[in-house]
Amino acid sequence: MVIARRLPGAGLDLLTDRFEVVPGEPSPDRDDLRLRVEGAAAIVADPTVPVDAELLDSAGASLKIVANFAVGYDNVDVGACRARGIVVTNTPDVLTNATAELAVALMLAAARRIGEGERLLRGGSWTGWDPAELLGRELSGATVGIVGLGRIGLRVAELLRGFETRTLYASRSSKPEAEARLGLQRATLDELVARSDFVTLHAPSTPETRHLVDADLLARFKRGAILVNTSRGPLVDAKALAAALREGHLAAAGLDVFEHEPVVEPELLALDNVVLLPHIGSATSKARDGMARLVAENVIAVLGGEAPLTPV
Ligand code: GLV
Repeated sequence: MVIARRLPGAGLDLLTDRFEVVPGEPSPDRDDLRLRVEGAAAIVADPTVPVDAELLDSAGASLKIVANFAVGYDNVDVGACRARGIVVTNTPDVLTNATAELAVALMLAAARRIGEGERLLRGGSWTGWDPAELLGRELSGATVGIVGLGRIGLRVAELLRGFETRTLYASRSSKPEAEARLGLQRATLDELVARSDFVTLHAPSTPETRHLVDADLLARFKRGAILVNTSRGPLVDAKALAAALREGHLAAAGLDVFEHEPVVEPELLALDNVVLLPHIGSATSKARDGMARLVAENVIAVLGGEAPLTPV
């Protein structure tokens, strides 16, 4: 079996105990990867590794499973896998809390201008406590709109309880249990963005969600709102977001994901009122170990003729 890049020891050890493992590299060369997967029974991929028909064909008929080291699987051509009878798995649950915590961290960082403050201090321009400097906003008591109430969106709603926010959600289906337990209120996307002081995205990247947040939707956001994205970059039209931030229609944004990672839209880099992070939503030791273990358990199950734990 082939690991396209890296897998933490928690999962790698389980695999090396049982299989012949071809290890990966931090930045695999595409042609080299195509050669390495030849004859593999399993491929461990991650969000930076496109798994398309070409790679599947390079692996050949031996391939049984593509185990993605991530909950999102927009890097995998699931249709091409299905057509070849290849199982695809992802890593839900184990990273839910880590990612939700990062979304809340970005809400606070954007609202309290934490990046700006740190740059000021490190740049040597801080002249001491100033009653009017870097005034921000408070999350407590604000209206927060959660777009997509899956596992991570729901965990964000749970974490927000302590902030006593009014919390809205937009979702394809209604979630009566969450509404009752957490006091959430369902809204259409238009209604949600018009009413929310903070909008946080928790939907997968699909052709339908590409540029869900575009110039048109941004114009409907409440003036002075803050946008947070810890899901996938393509959900946001970065140029339109930069324009809304420049014009002051949005107060700030907190982004952990970008459409063409690791490239970040230069118009966003030029703005002070955006907190930019290098896709670290699931980057805690606990989450990454859990993800690695789940990857390994899925591979072990499928290669042992059993059902995968977390198929997509
Ligand atoms: C990471 O981005 C993931 O989808 O798990």
